[in-house]
Amino acid sequence: MVDTKTQYQKIKAEIDKAVTDAIDSSAFINGKPVHEFAAALSGYVGTKHTIPCANGTDALQIAMMALGLQPGDEVITPSFTYIATTEVIALLRLTPVFTEVDKKSFCIEPDSIRKAITPKTKAIVPVHLYGQAAPMEEIMAIANEHNLYVIEDNAQAIGSEYVFSDGNKKKTGSISQVGTTSFYPSKNLGGFGDGGAIFTNNDDLALKLKMIANHGQTKQYYHDIVGCNSRLDSIQAAVLNIKLKYLDAYINARIQAADHYDEAFKNNSKIITPFRAAYSKHVFHQYTIVLNVENNAAEFRNGLKEYLNKHTIPAMIYYPVPGHRQKMFEAFAKPNVSLPVTDWLTERVISLPMHTELDKEQLEFISSKVLEYIN
Ligand SMILES: Cc1ncc(COP(=O)(O)O)c(C=O)c1O
Repeated sequence: MVDTKTQYQKIKAEIDKAVTDAIDSSAFINGKPVHEFAAALSGYVGTKHTIPCANGTDALQIAMMALGLQPGDEVITPSFTYIATTEVIALLRLTPVFTEVDKKSFCIEPDSIRKAITPKTKAIVPVHLYGQAAPMEEIMAIANEHNLYVIEDNAQAIGSEYVFSDGNKKKTGSISQVGTTSFYPSKNLGGFGDGGAIFTNNDDLALKLKMIANHGQTKQYYHDIVGCNSRLDSIQAAVLNIKLKYLDAYINARIQAADHYDEAFKNNSKIITPFRAAYSKHVFHQYTIVLNVENNAAEFRNGLKEYLNKHTIPAMIYYPVPGHRQKMFEAFAKPNVSLPVTDWLTERVISLPMHTELDKEQLEFISSKVLEYIN
């Protein structure tokens, strides 16, 4: 699905030097590259603070802890997302309230949020799924009206932008009180291992986030609040600091690949190509099509995956089981939750190879095999 090897070869000299420098310094934890990377990323995303941490799952957990969410508080979240978003809610003994997504954008649907609000609701976690922003203007308006926190799960959309109705633009992850991201190797800004970060403009919250990520301390061995151990190491930061310089070029390469797929599939009534919302810059973490078939949809879709695999083309189903149908949440989810759009999408989505190194020949081969199966 990705080609991190070719991507690395193109900037090998720079990366190798940065990694060697980090090793030579011997400051493996909290070294100079960590601070440099955090400052550079703040500049890129447009937030006052960036708190690096060990991965995108921890980033969500630390954000929820820092906001003071308490067991039993309800957190509104899409069911159609990667498990990390919703798992941390349950891990902290909060209640995930699964809501619907928009059929076109795959992102959380504002009316569904409104319907899910109760006196126990404390936060909303929108996910900028596949690289496109959730409808943040409406989400922030709902949150302000009901006094709720918003935690943007920006693991899949670093570099994406939201365009407000007044024309003002903000990078995803910087719009609400707190945003999170992941540097998992296949992400748009991927490290050579695990990594994550938390974004905020609020000084008090930033301090709390830093403390929680570091065993609840500001002074070594004086632990004021319960925290955890979640660090981005210096070697990862050194790699990410180099790759950040290329992020916009990487995003453009992804958009070009998406344009190619769009063009190839545009006249096929059975393929719904990714919707590009006017309010968002889609950074195509994934290129996910929906198969527009009525009967035996999952069977037909799974058949396409097998067909592509047989022709050496990887394809993935993100995600085959939505949150509200996962066993893990049986004790948490509200009974009888009905999310028909989520269920409909779950049976029909399929993600094609999407990365920075796809060339014309590969794109033509992949799209021709998709069409061969579909037709
Ligand atoms: C939407 C979403 N949230 C959170 C995460 C968690 O990130 P990580 O794998 O770095 O813990 C991911 C990563 O796959 C993700 O896609």
